[in-house]
Amino acid sequence: MKLGVLVSGSGTNLQAIVDATREGRLAADVRVVVSNKEGAGGLVRAREAGVHTVVLDHRAYASREAFDGALVDALRAEEVEWVVLAGFMRIVTRVLLDAFPMRVLNIHPALLPAFPGVDAQAQALAYGVRVTGCTVHFVDAGTDTGPILAQTVVPVLPDDTVDTLKARLLVEEHALLVSSLAAVADGRVTVVSRGPGERPAVRIARPA
Ligand code: GRF
Repeated sequence: MKLGVLVSGSGTNLQAIVDATREGRLAADVRVVVSNKEGAGGLVRAREAGVHTVVLDHRAYASREAFDGALVDALRAEEVEWVVLAGFMRIVTRVLLDAFPMRVLNIHPALLPAFPGVDAQAQALAYGVRVTGCTVHFVDAGTDTGPILAQTVVPVLPDDTVDTLKARLLVEEHALLVSSLAAVADGRVTVVSRGPGERPAVRIARPA
């Protein structure tokens, strides 16, 4: 499975993917890492791993669609088949989604549909939930609204700060993202459309 990974930040989820491919836990090849931020730690991690990197500054494009067009070109140039948003802090448009239909995945640090959008960990703390978690989902045109592939529950502890909760979540994010991608790579994920207006059902078969 040829992957393109989009990052804006520190890239620990990207690192988890790279490590899993190297250790034979994920039958995938990270062909390119694209960032909208030159200073993203994810770019450093990619370069250290010998993965091709591309920087596309979204401010240089007249519209989200124009930016996504450049993203698609960068991904196609490396023959990418699946796209992973791993801490990519941009809303994507139909330009990217139509180029990779039902082949764009996102990792989100909350149990969707709770706490979509930015600062999900702070949202969870502010709300006072006792558990939160992380979600891997197919990306659609909404913000964190696409069909859910997998979720992990993580407790919120009484003394948690945003930072302690983020750290506890990240450990589970890394595991969930890798296991989700492994399921896709092994051909164990099927998406079944239901009636008009209904959300598709995502089925994951157990490993053989
Ligand atoms: C993660 O919490 C991810 O769920 C969110 O942004 C963060 C990225 O972390 N979308 P990293 O760049 O992978 O370390």
